[in-house]
Amino acid sequence: MNFLLSFFLNISAALFCLSIFSYLIPQLVVWFLPERNLKHRYGQSWCVVTGGSSGIGQQFAVKATKQGMNCVIIGRNESHLNETKDLLSQLNPQTQQLYITADFSKDPDVVTRHILQQVEELDISVLFLNAGYGSFEKATGPSSTLVDMLNTNTVTNLALFNSLSPRILRRSLSQTSSSKEHRGAVFLTSSVVDLVAVPYAANYCSTKSSLAAFGESLAFECQQVGVDVVVLRPGPVNTRFYDRISGISILQAIQLVGSSPQSVVRKLFKSVGRLVACDVGLSTILVRLFTKVVDYNAYATFVAPIFNLFPEFQHLGQESETR
Ligand SMILES: *[C@@H]1O[C@H](CO)[C@@H](O)[C@H](O)[C@H]1NC(C)=O
Ligand SMILES: *[C@@H]1O[C@H](CO)[C@@H](O)[C@H](O)[C@H]1NC(C)=O
Repeated sequence: MNFLLSFFLNISAALFCLSIFSYLIPQLVVWFLPERNLKHRYGQSWCVVTGGSSGIGQQFAVKATKQGMNCVIIGRNESHLNETKDLLSQLNPQTQQLYITADFSKDPDVVTRHILQQVEELDISVLFLNAGYGSFEKATGPSSTLVDMLNTNTVTNLALFNSLSPRILRRSLSQTSSSKEHRGAVFLTSSVVDLVAVPYAANYCSTKSSLAAFGESLAFECQQVGVDVVVLRPGPVNTRFYDRISGISILQAIQLVGSSPQSVVRKLFKSVGRLVACDVGLSTILVRLFTKVVDYNAYATFVAPIFNLFPEFQHLGQESETR
């Protein structure tokens, strides 16, 4: 009996360690490695960044430009694009930039065609699918934003991937490059909400989970053909994201412990070609560890109801009943 018990405990401990350390070790190792240089890896070529006029996308463009890559910056807001233009034009005179105004919530085919017309001649190696926003709302009420959000965060980004990926695959680098086999990369911005269910964020969670699932599955195909894939799961990041969510003070509190866009991009550059699932920030890592210990059903029963103690969530719950 004693033997059976200790056998069971030892097996449990071994599985627990495997679960925790197979997660933490790659994340930590990458954290200590140097950042990749995109120009060395893919040759001087173009990065396409959606949602590139602020936050993570903008910081990505800054770093890529400093490394000598050309950038296509796609953004919705023209004045933010202009600010980004001012920022990037100072950084590296040997690089070029192209700015495209596009609203990803609109018809994905039309938006994609509008972009393709302008990038036809460019040698594109890196595609960063980053455009997106979130909002808290009842998924059971009639939602005016569901389709907009699905288009912005998921459909239009993937439609653009679909049009540009053959060109990335066809790339072959010059003989002078020491890294011929690396043709390019696809990066996707998912979110910590892919890991854990959040009340009143069903719409947002579904957009970010579908990006993560797409990227992580895509990575297998891409590995065969020399294309790097990284799926970013940032926790709260101090970006314009929060400008579009109003009246949620719990989020404002979370934002205080959020990562900076710079630190997200630093982790991305360290992960290129090394790690597909890139969890950024302490909050994502803690949530991931939590989900390894407490499974969904226990979480839904015992933890998720705590959300309803916050007035903001109570308010959201009541809102659409009167609609
Ligand atoms: C762009 O952003 C500015 C400042 O954040 C805002 O005032 C303006 O309304 C935005 N424009 C559009 C078209 O959304
Ligand atoms: C952005 O810059 C362009 C060209 O410099 C200018 O025509 C346009 O009015 C600017 N837009 C905004 C919203 O500042």
